[in-house]
Amino acid sequence: MKTTTEKFGVTPHQPSLWTRADALKVRADDPTTTQPLVSADFPVLNNDVFIWDTMPLRDLDGNVTSVDGWSVIFTLTADRHPNDPQYLDEDGNYDILRDWNDRHGRAKMYYWFSRTGKNWEFGGRVMAEGVSPTAREWAGTPILLNDRGEVDLYYTAVTPGATIVKVRGRVVTTEHGVSMVGFEKVKPLFEADGKMYQTEAQNAFWGFRDPWPFRDPNDGKLYMLFEGNVAGERGSHKVGEAEIGDVPPGYEDVGNSRYQTACVGIAVARDADGDDWEMLPPLLTAVGVNDQTERPHFVFQDGKYYLFTISHTFTYGDGVTGPDGVYGFVADSLFGPYVPLNGSGLVLGNPSSQPFQTYSHYVMPNGLVTSFIDSVPTDETGTQIRVGGTEAPTVGLKIKGQQTFVVAEYDYGYIPPMLDVALK
Ligand code: FRU
Repeated sequence: MKTTTEKFGVTPHQPSLWTRADALKVRADDPTTTQPLVSADFPVLNNDVFIWDTMPLRDLDGNVTSVDGWSVIFTLTADRHPNDPQYLDEDGNYDILRDWNDRHGRAKMYYWFSRTGKNWEFGGRVMAEGVSPTAREWAGTPILLNDRGEVDLYYTAVTPGATIVKVRGRVVTTEHGVSMVGFEKVKPLFEADGKMYQTEAQNAFWGFRDPWPFRDPNDGKLYMLFEGNVAGERGSHKVGEAEIGDVPPGYEDVGNSRYQTACVGIAVARDADGDDWEMLPPLLTAVGVNDQTERPHFVFQDGKYYLFTISHTFTYGDGVTGPDGVYGFVADSLFGPYVPLNGSGLVLGNPSSQPFQTYSHYVMPNGLVTSFIDSVPTDETGTQIRVGGTEAPTVGLKIKGQQTFVVAEYDYGYIPPMLDVALK
């Protein structure tokens, strides 16, 4: 993609490419990049709801932040329907898998709080019914703005369309718990433009979501990462030499991988409050490699930009594959060039014996990685499964130069604060 004129003092850049050659280096079950097996006897956070994407409250620099000693997380959440005739199978038993698979259509933002960074207590919905303009409240980021407890929740308003939005409210604490007040006025920020980022009109399977605002540690400006697909009609993308990369003889055939067009998008704020945004060309594209680079986020460490994003086996293109999990890229400056971590990009994947055990990994600046349990086999053949919809064990990562290593495993849903803000 050719890039544009200079905007808001932001240097024009070329997107970095995650190439097919990079992806050929992905090795499932390498113990240094594989999540330890999740046992099928996991505890469930709450039996009334499914939870999946987990969004810790943080500041604009990325630090996971507690307030008055209370840790707070937001989760995508949907009711479980064990007694709804719609979710009973022929024998009258609850078909939990079907209920779980339908959850995206009724996803809502909920919050939870804890004194210990685990064993989360149920807070409730962040926005009352009717506040959010669309059917689905999809992933984003809650930002603690100041010591008055003001919070900007950036998220994705989906169906109809997909719009990056934000809503402002306040976190209030007592000795006994945490509540969210406000969150009454949702402000649309932007949608895919069809020039840099693919629109629904160009591809009914387009992705445009998962805002992650941040302050650049070097230039101090406010930016936002998000998930997108590269603009253009579905099927029109070219998987050329650059997208293929340096492959061995016999690996030149790209099959139908022109349908895989994921990218990590970036926008810059025109104002200090983050109410007015300008989309910039993608930071990273995966044309010919993968169709989804979801929930992109940064860890700023050792003067470098560590860009993480989650992806699936089923979204890879023909001739390349990898586990469900989190992938990463590193650069010396915000606009790249980005190099895949561990050569391939794979940072933490599911073991091949339990390919759907976890998803939606979020790497925190302390190296801890939270995710949710999707489903875990309960028998040898993998035909029987237990659905999760709850927090997975947290994994500890060591990030060193262009490599990462799994070094620890912690309790389910362990998300300790990196700093505490005493509210005024
Ligand atoms: C990741 C994800 C996000 C999206 C949400 C929808 O698990 O696909 O990209 O916002 O889940 O439920």
